[in-house]
Amino acid sequence: MRPFATFEERLSDWTTNAMKSVFGLEDAEVNLGVAPTNNEKFGDYQCNAAMTLTKLLKKAPRQIAQEFVDAAELPEFVEKIEIAGPGFINFHLSNAALAEYIQSLENDPSLGTARVGEGKTVVIDYSGPNVAKPMHIGHIRSTVIGNAIDRLYRFLGYDVIADNHLGDWGTQFGLMMIGYREFRDEEALKTAPVEELERVYVASYNKSKDDVSWRESAKAELVKLQQGDPENRALWEQFIELSIKEFDVIYDRLGVKFDLYRGESFYNDRLPKIIERLEAKGLAKESEGALIVDLEEYGMPICIVRKSDGGYNYATTDLATVEARVEEFAPERVIYVTDERQQLHFKQFFKTSELLGLNANLVHVWFGLMRLPEATFSTREGNVIKLAALLDEAEARALEMVESSSPDMPEEQQKDLAKAIGIGAIKYTDLSQNPQSLVTFTWEKALNMEGNSAPYLQYAYARISSVHDKYRAQYPDTDLNECSLNIEHEIERRLAIKLSRFPAAVRAAAENYRPNIMADYLYDLAQIYSSFYQNVPFLKAPEGERESRIRLCRSTAATLKQGLELLGIETRERI
Ligand code: ARG
Repeated sequence: MRPFATFEERLSDWTTNAMKSVFGLEDAEVNLGVAPTNNEKFGDYQCNAAMTLTKLLKKAPRQIAQEFVDAAELPEFVEKIEIAGPGFINFHLSNAALAEYIQSLENDPSLGTARVGEGKTVVIDYSGPNVAKPMHIGHIRSTVIGNAIDRLYRFLGYDVIADNHLGDWGTQFGLMMIGYREFRDEEALKTAPVEELERVYVASYNKSKDDVSWRESAKAELVKLQQGDPENRALWEQFIELSIKEFDVIYDRLGVKFDLYRGESFYNDRLPKIIERLEAKGLAKESEGALIVDLEEYGMPICIVRKSDGGYNYATTDLATVEARVEEFAPERVIYVTDERQQLHFKQFFKTSELLGLNANLVHVWFGLMRLPEATFSTREGNVIKLAALLDEAEARALEMVESSSPDMPEEQQKDLAKAIGIGAIKYTDLSQNPQSLVTFTWEKALNMEGNSAPYLQYAYARISSVHDKYRAQYPDTDLNECSLNIEHEIERRLAIKLSRFPAAVRAAAENYRPNIMADYLYDLAQIYSSFYQNVPFLKAPEGERESRIRLCRSTAATLKQGLELLGIETRERI
C-alpha cells in the first residue's frame, strides 16, 4: 500500500472541497483541482478554478482568487499560496512535507502510484506477427510499444491479458502447403525455418500467377485444411509451431511475455455466428455475391464480412475476437497496437462492433513506421530488416562501447552489459518518440551517450548507484534509514519535486498510450540529478547533509530503475 496520496491528488482534493465550501458550490460539476506548474516561478502546483468560476459566481477571477485565499485555511503541506496573473492560484509545497513524502516512498514498491486499475481487466493485443513470415519492422514496434503499455497498466494494478493475435489463418495456406511439398529445402528448414517457409510461399505464389492448375490445387488444399483434413492440419500446425518457436527467441531477447497466443484460427468456429448476428440486426447485405456492412453514413467505405467465395475477412475475425474476449474476460477496455496502415480497418470494425452491440471499449493505438535510412543496416535485404540481425548488430555495437569504456571488466560481464545496452537502445528509440510521429532510426542517436537515449539513462543509473556504494564503503556502520532526509538546497528541492511526480508520469503515459511520456520524465529526472550532483557536495558534505543527500540519491536510483523497467529496459549496477 502506498503510504500517501500524491501532492497533486491531495491538493486537488483540498482545493475542490475548499472552493465548494467558500463559495457554496456543493453540487457544482466543475474541475477545481490543481495541475503541476511548468515554471518554478509559479510555485509547484497551480489552480485555475477562479477563471472557471467567473461566469457562475459573476465576479472577476482575481476577486474570486482573493476571496478564496482570504477565507481558506491552508493544509499543513503548503508553505505559501499566491495569486498570479488574471487569477491563477499558485501553491508552494513546504520543504518538510516534501522530505517526508520522499522518505515515505522508500518502502513503497509503487513509488507513490495509486493502483487505479485494481479489479479491472484490460486486454492488450500486440505484436501479432503472421505465421510463416519473418516479423517486420512494424511488428517490432508493436511488440516494443505494446509491451511498454502492458507494463504500465500492470503497474497501475490492472489485470492485463497480453494476447498475441497471430495471423495464422487465411488463403495463403493453400499456396504454402503445395509450395512446401514441392519446393522445400530440408537443410534451410532446420537453420532458418521461417525464412524458408516464406521463400517457399513466394515461390508458390509466383508459380500461381500463370499456372492455372497450380492455383486450382492450392485452392483444393486450402479447402481440405478448412475441412479438417488430418494431413493438411498437421502440416499447418507444424508451420505454426516453427514460427512461434522463432518468434519466442525474439520475445525472449526483448524480455516480452504473452499470456495468450490466440491466433485468428482460434475464432474460426465463431465466424458463421457473427455473420448471423450481423444479418439478424439487419447490418449485413449482399453485394456482388459478397456480404458487406455499409458504413457510408459514418463516412467510411463498406466493410466486407464474407467474400463471394464464402471465405471470411480480417474484420470478421476481429469481430468474433471481441465477442469472445467480452464473454471470457469482461474487459474494461481492449487495446490494439499496430502500425498506422491499419487505421481504417480498426475504425470500420470498431464501428461495426458498436452497431452490433458487442459493448466493448475498444482502443486502437497506432504508430508511424520507423524510417530506416539507406545503409543503416548491413543486414538489409530488399525491404525487409531481419529483426534478429538488427538485435545482433545493436549488441555488437554496444559491446564495442563497453569494451572501450570498461576495458577491465570481465568478458562475461561486458557481454551481459552490452546486451542490456544494445536491446535497451533499440527499444528506447521506439519508445522515446511520440508513437505517431515519423521517426528516423540512426545508430548515432540510439547509442548516444550524451543525449536522450537508453545508454545515457543506464549510465546515469549506474553512476547514481555507485555513489551509494561508495558511501556504504566509507561509512559501513551508518543506518541511512535512521538519518533524516532534509530538503534545503534549491536543487534538492527540484529533484524532490520531480521524484514526487513519478506517479503522474505513469498515469499520463498509460492513459494516453504514450510511453514517451515516461521516457521524457526519466530523461528530465536524470538531468536534474546531474545538476544536483554537480552543484552540491555528497561524500564530502558535513555529516547529516551527507546522509540526507545519499538518501535522495538512492530514491533517484530507485525511480530511474522502476521507470526504465516500465519501458522494458534493463539496468545494471556496474557500467
Ligand atoms: N497480424 C496482423 C498484422 O500482421 C496484426 C494483428 C493485430 N491485431 C488484431 N486483432 N487485428 O498486421
